[in-house]
Amino acid sequence: MKGIIKIQDKEFEIFIKSFEISEMVNRLAKELANDLKGKDVVFVGILNGAFIFAADLIRKVNMDCNVSFVKTASYKGARTSGNVKTLIGLQQEVKGKTIVIIEDIIDTGLTLDTVIKEIDCHNPAEILVVALLFKCEACIKKVRIDYLGREIPNNFVIGYGLDYNGFGRNLRDVYKMRAS
Ligand code: IMP
Repeated sequence: MKGIIKIQDKEFEIFIKSFEISEMVNRLAKELANDLKGKDVVFVGILNGAFIFAADLIRKVNMDCNVSFVKTASYKGARTSGNVKTLIGLQQEVKGKTIVIIEDIIDTGLTLDTVIKEIDCHNPAEILVVALLFKCEACIKKVRIDYLGREIPNNFVIGYGLDYNGFGRNLRDVYKMRAS
């Protein structure tokens, strides 16, 4: 059937088309550039999921900035383990700077909460958050999202950097898992 793909044992259907993703990225980039021009900005992407969103976003943000990444892991298959591990920590000097954390999707909020606490230890001037997708029904940690693409229902999604067991990150569109 059109718009349906199979990855391992699961079927996924098209959910957010690549042109809609581009529109969100363009809007977020404009908002960031308007608000942050003239500030000493470091973008910090959260790997692995945010690598495509971060790459697209920072190329659209028309301003001087530094870019860095941290790497965390919490998901097993289509579920969070609830336990966020930092695999690669912050390698960049952030003291006194404006940090913009780039997150692909906020689900429970545990990853973001962990990363914010870690960065905050290095005394930045401020920490802002830009996220492409937010599953508000799944969120258990209260998190402030300064720049958001859109809210989505509590479905497992893949594509545009997001994976199922490591697969699906290279899909241009975002797909949601079908009930089995
Ligand atoms: P949180 O800690 O529960 O907010 O989850 C954050 C991380 O889990 C994201 O950065 C993603 O890497 C991953 N994640 C959350 N929801 C999904 C999903 O629906 N599909 C794929 N990965 C997800």
